[in-house]
Amino acid sequence: MRVLLTGGAGYIGAHTAVALIDAGHEVLIVDDFSASSAEAVRRIERITGATVPALAADARDEAAVLAFVREHAPVDAVIHFAGLKAVGESMAQPVRYYEVNIGSAVAILRVMAEAGIRTIVFSSSATVYGDPGPEDLPLTETSPTGIDLANPYAKTKRMIEEILHDAAAADPGLRAVTLRYFNPVGAHPSGLIGEDPVGIPNNLMPVLARVAIGALPGVSIYGDDYDTPDGTGLRDYIHVTDLAAGHLASLERAREGYAVFNLGTGKPVSVIQLIEAFRAASGHPIPATVAPRRAGDVTALYANPSKAERELDWTATRTIEQACAEYWHWQERNPDGYRG
Ligand code: UFG
Repeated sequence: MRVLLTGGAGYIGAHTAVALIDAGHEVLIVDDFSASSAEAVRRIERITGATVPALAADARDEAAVLAFVREHAPVDAVIHFAGLKAVGESMAQPVRYYEVNIGSAVAILRVMAEAGIRTIVFSSSATVYGDPGPEDLPLTETSPTGIDLANPYAKTKRMIEEILHDAAAADPGLRAVTLRYFNPVGAHPSGLIGEDPVGIPNNLMPVLARVAIGALPGVSIYGDDYDTPDGTGLRDYIHVTDLAAGHLASLERAREGYAVFNLGTGKPVSVIQLIEAFRAASGHPIPATVAPRRAGDVTALYANPSKAERELDWTATRTIEQACAEYWHWQERNPDGYRG
């Protein structure tokens, strides 16, 4: 299969590119490199030995993307990773989030129609489940969602899911798959590709890595008074290599129509447990202090991944210990990310 990856130089995109090429597929990348680096494409090529054509363009630039797709015809499928993803920024700049995230999804569907591409896999997020009650956990694909979500970022993910649902309903030959990611962590075992956040990171594992490398003084634990065993938030941390394998499985098994899958481990892990695992993996003390809850955070979010196990023959196999060790390997080898 020849697969176009929008946002293919990003954290999840780059790992998925490697997984697809390792499985014998061909990969093309469209990325505007606004939150990623062209160096990631060179690293994908180094790991796999493949040549990866990459177009530096916004995924909303239909004419440029269509010309690229035609140049590399036939393209069999698209994985649409491109988009803005910072929750706080989406609250400050909602219109920009709707414009970029909705606009790029619509543009890609139009390019697919023009070029006769019949399969799309979309990067959604567990954030579409909002703030689930204990009775909803672990989350299945039929757990409540809505567009009544806490921030525009989450709403764009949910709205794009609906756009794909409607597009597939109107066009019976289309194969549209939504993947709801839980919390991606870890890095490729080579240490050549990994997460490279712009500026000061918000997410827990990149913060831990920045503390361990000495670039940040310590980590704040955002609340230890949640109704959980140790009082800190529970999440489902999934190794990015497992996540990449989930994309491969969903592409290879995509059926006509619309389908949604959770990609998670099913195992809730607390903030304190993740900090301890990263301390052990890095050998650094990682000072941690309890701070107030972060606005918008939920108590617990973890998957029931059985639908993906059943229908995609996919399951997450890697542990958080392995994710911490491999994230740390990437961070140590690349203290300044791809800019190093
Ligand atoms: N946390 C801290 N300190 C930090 C950072 C995070 O204690 O410095 C805690 C959070 O309170 C939360 C947990 O670590 O309990 C995980 O937080 P992350 O920011 O790593 O991840 P989130 O679960 O908040 O967010 C992630 C993605 C979002 C997505 C969301 C869906 O980053 O894009 O999952 O739930 F919307």
